[in-house]
Amino acid sequence: MDIRRLTDRLGGLAFGGDYNPEQWDEQVWKQDDELMRRARVNLATVGVFSWALLEPEEGRYDFDWLDAHLDRLHANGVAVDLATPTASPPPWFTLAHPDALPVRPDGTRLTHGSRDTYCLTAPAYRRAARRIAGALAERYGDHPALALWHVHNEYVTLCLCDHTAAAFRVWLRARHGSLDALNEAWGTAFWSQRYTSWEQILPPRDSQWHRNPGQALDFSRFWSDETLAAYREQRDAIRAHSDRPVTTNLMVPSYQNLDLWAFGREVDLVSIDHYPGAPGVDAAAHAAFDADRARSFAGGGPWLLMEQGTNTVYAGGRVLAKEPGDILRHSLAHIARGSEGALFFQWRQSRAGAEQWHSAMVPHAGADSRTFREVTATGEAVARLGELAGSTVRAEVAVLHDSDAWWAMDIDGLPSSELDYFAALSRAHRALWEAGRTVDFAHPEHDLSRYRLVIAPALFLLTDAGAGNLRRYVAAGGTLLVQHFSGMVNERLHARLGGYPAAPLREALGIRVEEYRPLRQDEQITLSDGSTADSWSESLSTEGAETLAAYTHGMLAGSPALTRHDFGSGYGWYLSTRLDDTGYAALVGRLLTEAGVAPELPGLPPGVEAVARHAPDGRRWLLLLNHRDDAVPLPRPGHDLLTDGPLRELPPGGCAVLRAH
Ligand code: GAL
Repeated sequence: MDIRRLTDRLGGLAFGGDYNPEQWDEQVWKQDDELMRRARVNLATVGVFSWALLEPEEGRYDFDWLDAHLDRLHANGVAVDLATPTASPPPWFTLAHPDALPVRPDGTRLTHGSRDTYCLTAPAYRRAARRIAGALAERYGDHPALALWHVHNEYVTLCLCDHTAAAFRVWLRARHGSLDALNEAWGTAFWSQRYTSWEQILPPRDSQWHRNPGQALDFSRFWSDETLAAYREQRDAIRAHSDRPVTTNLMVPSYQNLDLWAFGREVDLVSIDHYPGAPGVDAAAHAAFDADRARSFAGGGPWLLMEQGTNTVYAGGRVLAKEPGDILRHSLAHIARGSEGALFFQWRQSRAGAEQWHSAMVPHAGADSRTFREVTATGEAVARLGELAGSTVRAEVAVLHDSDAWWAMDIDGLPSSELDYFAALSRAHRALWEAGRTVDFAHPEHDLSRYRLVIAPALFLLTDAGAGNLRRYVAAGGTLLVQHFSGMVNERLHARLGGYPAAPLREALGIRVEEYRPLRQDEQITLSDGSTADSWSESLSTEGAETLAAYTHGMLAGSPALTRHDFGSGYGWYLSTRLDDTGYAALVGRLLTEAGVAPELPGLPPGVEAVARHAPDGRRWLLLLNHRDDAVPLPRPGHDLLTDGPLRELPPGGCAVLRAH
């Protein structure tokens, strides 16, 4: 489906948020209409948690109230992103189907009273979810207000019940074919774990010590596939009655429960929710990180920021206040990186209920508030950016991001608890972001030929196909940096024998890792080039690569730590330890220079973000965000769409969108 239809339908970029009118009365609805017009809201997500109202008892629907809201929104010029309410089954459902309540790894079955309290594999839940999705689509499939379908809300709940066990076994049979193959893949010869019938196999519930790694990895894969199947069922039930695009709001969290590459292929439009966990420049870096991931999962095409907070988010057990200006800066940070708009959770702050203290576009204080004034200013800014619709972002650098490698590195029993996939991934992105380069994420088996530089920060698991692809990338002229503990195992988690990393990749790097040697906690080492490192070291020998820095401590003194291999038409770099932030930034800077990757806008000081959006017809816009508290003169002045005037200098904390064509 063509997602351009969404912005065509809206007449520009999307602005709005989750709208829960069922929490209010007529007087407030009237006020909502007026305030939405003031804030230039053009898209409202409706019905996310409305199951209990829509289906008060099994099979009996009440759509009258929703009819009225959709008609009212439409009359007010607001399009609707209609959700299926399946993230929160009503109490009648769980009482009728107690087997559809989720079970934790320790065997505890949860009870209703919150949200997300369902088992995704329970047949009764799946039937009920398909039914309500189909009923909504039948009624509203061609409603004039309808612009987008929003399946579910943030697929997240995990369940290890007997339904899950049964579905897991079906998945395992399809993957492995026979019990012998499964036993071989999981290495059950160790610790007497051999299975002699499928019924003996369980999902990874709590056990005495380390669980079987193959079982843990296969379960992660299975759960992601199962979740995707549940999404597809609803999507297809909708498509039977409606031709509007379908999405689900994905989380891009610091842990991984789903293969987001796979989701990206199944949704008509990738949409994500983003809640930064820290203030200031860390929030800006986090927004860029999530936005770049979203765009990459969307195959480089347009995507949508479905949720963000206005002035507060939950972080570290407390509400974190956003600073004045953040609402606009954060919205533009996502739009700069390809989002077709900026939406929020939620329009009006709830006066009661579990999230009554979560921020909203209209806070408890009402429209006479800093928050609503900033929301209105942001709505006006977004409304001026209509010409950007459909334009995309280009990057010359990619960071490799693989779901299997992430899941594999989360499994316990690795040689160091400091091996952290997310930390390595976000650190690589942050160093590139600070260097002013736009970054894509890519899968190790993707075509990488458009990138001048590829960084593999944590490719613990690497398939033969991935290793071969990386080898070809370097041979054809790419610059590749592979970091420690990569290419250690194949897709079955079996160790690579004869030296790490996986053989075809090793050839491109011109090295052979013989031994891994985690450093002691808090131990810092100095390399021969003066840089310092911690947490990890490896004993390796070069097989064609040149040594750029060597270890200087203990038994590794004199052996290579950082290497570069002139291979084919490209360069394969290998870093066998964890450099400190300064050393890592210097290495990334050197790689960018050697690979010939220029900043988006050369001449900007640190703390100013610049990203370009390109239209297929050659038009180009430069989005600028100043995270500094001083004004910054622009190397190239231009016409700013936000102020509709010339701009020579970015004010402290200011933003601009320059026409660069
Ligand atoms: C999101 C969720 C919303 C709301 C928001 C604020 O993760 O989709 O429904 O709960 O967080 O906490």
